[in-house]
This record gives sequence, C-alpha cells and structure tokens, in this order.
Amino acid sequence: MTNSPDEPTAAKLRNKVVDQLINDGTIVSPGVEAAMRTEPRHLAVPDATLEEAYSTYDAVVTKYDEHGISTSSVSAPQIQAMQLEQAAIQPGDRVLEIGSNGPNAAYADALAGPGGQVTTVDIDPDPAARAERYLTATGHTRVNVLVADADNGVPEHAPYDAVIVTAGAWDIPAAWTEQLNEGGRLVVPLRINGLTRSYGFVRQGDHLVSTSAHPCGFVAVQGAGSHKEELLYLRGNKEIGLRFDEGLPADPSLLDGVLRTPRVETWTGVTVGRTENIGSLQMYLATMVPGFCIMSVDPDLNTSTVEPSNLGFSMAAVDGADFGYVLVRRTPDDKNVEYGVHAFGPAAAVFAQALADHISVWAKEHRGGPGPRVAVYAAGTPDDRISGDRIIDKQHSRISVSWSAA
Ligand SMILES: C[S@@+](CC[C@H](N)C(=O)[O-])C[C@H]1O[C@@H](n2cnc3c(N)ncnc32)[C@H](O)[C@@H]1O
Repeated sequence: MTNSPDEPTAAKLRNKVVDQLINDGTIVSPGVEAAMRTEPRHLAVPDATLEEAYSTYDAVVTKYDEHGISTSSVSAPQIQAMQLEQAAIQPGDRVLEIGSNGPNAAYADALAGPGGQVTTVDIDPDPAARAERYLTATGHTRVNVLVADADNGVPEHAPYDAVIVTAGAWDIPAAWTEQLNEGGRLVVPLRINGLTRSYGFVRQGDHLVSTSAHPCGFVAVQGAGSHKEELLYLRGNKEIGLRFDEGLPADPSLLDGVLRTPRVETWTGVTVGRTENIGSLQMYLATMVPGFCIMSVDPDLNTSTVEPSNLGFSMAAVDGADFGYVLVRRTPDDKNVEYGVHAFGPAAAVFAQALADHISVWAKEHRGGPGPRVAVYAAGTPDDRISGDRIIDKQHSRISVSWSAA
C-alpha cells in the first residue's frame, strides 16, 4: 500500500479523519485509532476521489437498485468507528460482520489480531467480491468472506464474541443471539417505530441487554429480514402520509374525514435550544405513545390543513378516530423553540393533551438522560419473563423498552 502513488495524500487525509473522530468523541480506544490510521480504505473504492473516500461523515455508495435506492456502501468512517467502539473487539475475538465491502472487516481483523477470526457475509455477491479484493490487496487474508443471507447468521464460524450488523434491521433473528458467546456483543442498527439507532447489546443468557444506542442511517437489510413501513394517507390525494413501522391502526377507516374536524392546538411550555439533541424525545414518543407514526406532507399537494414544522418528518400518533402531530414554535426571545400539538377528531382536545403530557413527562424525567434500556427476547417468551414499560413484538423477537430503569 505504501507503494501507491496516492499514499502520502491518503495518509494525510486518513489522519485528519481520525483526529476529527477523536475530537468529536467517536474514537475513544487506542485499537480503533490505530486501525483507522493505518487502513488504506480508499483502495476499496477506486472510483471515488481520495476526498470522498476519506470524508469523515459520508459513506461512499457502491450500489443502487433499479429505483435509485442505495443498497450497498462503504460506511462513513464515523459510523464504522462508532460501531467498532460499541463492539469492543479484543485481541483473540471471533467476529462476524454482516454486510461487507472490505474496510470495516479489515478494521475488525486488525483489532482481533492473529489469534482472532473475522468472518464477513453479504447477501449480494458484488460487495462480497469487493471485500475479497480489498482484503487480499491489504493482506487481511485471515478474514472469511461469504455470500449468504445473514438472517441465519453464519453458523459454520460461530460462536462469536462480537457480531456487527452494518445494514439497517427491523428485527433480531434468533441466530444472531444464539451464535454469540455469553457476554458477547451484538451491534445492530435497529429500527423501532421508524427510528433507527445503532444499539450495542450484550448477551445475558437467552436475551440481549443494551449498553449503548446512537442515531444512525444505514442501507436496509435485504432478504428474509427486509421489512417495509406501511403507509396510510389521510386523504385520497396522497397529500398527508402517515408511516407506521409496527403495523397499521386496527381500523384505519375511523380516520376517514378526520381532517374535516376542527383543528385543536395545545402548547406544552417545554422549550429546547436549537442545538439540543432531541433524539431521546423522539425515542420516548416512539416507544411510549400508542399509535405512534411519522407524518410527511407532499409539498406539491400541501393545502396547509396540517402545518408541521418539518413537512418531511413529524412525530404523530393515531388513536381510533383521532389524529395529532407534534410541532414547534419559536419562543418570543427567538432563542428556543416550544413544543406543541395539533390534533383532529371527535376527542381532539383530550388527545392533544395526552400527547402534550407525554412531552412534559419526557422533559421532567428523561431529558438529558441516557435513553431507555432496551432488551431483546426471542418471540414466544412469556410476558412474565420480560420487564419493561413497553413490549414491541416483532416477527422473531420481543423488544422491551424500559424508561424507568434508565
Ligand atoms: C453499508 S454496506 C456494508 C459496509 C461495510 N460494512 C463496510 O463499511 O466496509 C451494507 C451491506 O449489507 C448487505 N446486506 C443487506 N442485507 C443483508 C443480509 N440479509 N445478509 C447479508 N448482507 C446483507 C448489503 O448488500 C450491503 O452490501
């Protein structure tokens, strides 16, 4: 690699990325720092410029589907470093990476060392081939590269001390837990009610317990585990769409004509600075408000019947024939914003107040806190074995979310 004519410039850019990731708090361990200062990741993306290959917060997309949606990328250095820190790979560890392309498997191999074993698997032969080429060129020949749907994990190289999933999942297949050693770590970008966080889980017997969670974006899991949100339009013309990630409301027809009812407005008195991270409010509402969904408004069809602060993404909820969404307005000094709720339907005032109360509870009890404790149990685990404020049932797993224990 040092023979590459690009190497001196690449080394400079690489060190700049790592310095930035140390400064922003993403890289905290010497092992991750050393691996990222060394790996010539640009060789995995020969069609990208060096600046693109070493852009701290940007992925390099390597494949699109027929609709122009990205299906594969070399993840952004920040995302890779964040997940490697969550995985806490030690020398001698056996590691499974789900989703290949090369650089991240190479970092894992550097961390696991000669006594460890890294396996990377991709459902698509193209990223697997890219990984194979990169790992051979950079001397990471110990890494196993496979083509398979990782819904079943990779039993032939299990058990693992760490499994890192690098595609966005909606569910946790049993194999991912079962193929971990006791105390092993599963790092996975998991979507709960439309919100994706990269969770760091630790296996404790038959279940997983979260130790960290960070907002992130990933290409979606394909194959048996792929899962699409369901869309409900509040009017036939597709102006206002509600996206439900955990199933549509029991009787969506109750909402027919809801937008013809008067709009009720409630303000909460809860204000936040423009730079405050409100990820935990989103998570709180997504996990604690029944009927939570995400509203988007088509700007070309917008009649201003609803007036969210962000047309593309607003937290919303449905309960029977009532519907409401969260919005903000500027405080009089223009320094902060205040949360409020708009609601429609026969019990709009009560519904608006209920949503507003959730925001107030978040502000009082969870703002600035660590977020919820999330645990993952196999589907079929009885309720009395699971503690938590809310259980979210997926196909293969039951996810418990505890705000009280956080
Ligand atoms: C972000 S890319 C992986 C990037 C890689 N970890 C890196 O940065 O070096 C995500 C990959 O996950 C793969 N993938 C999606 N669903 C999968 C599945 N069910 N099993 C295995 N791989 C899958 C995609 O084909 C894609 O190549």
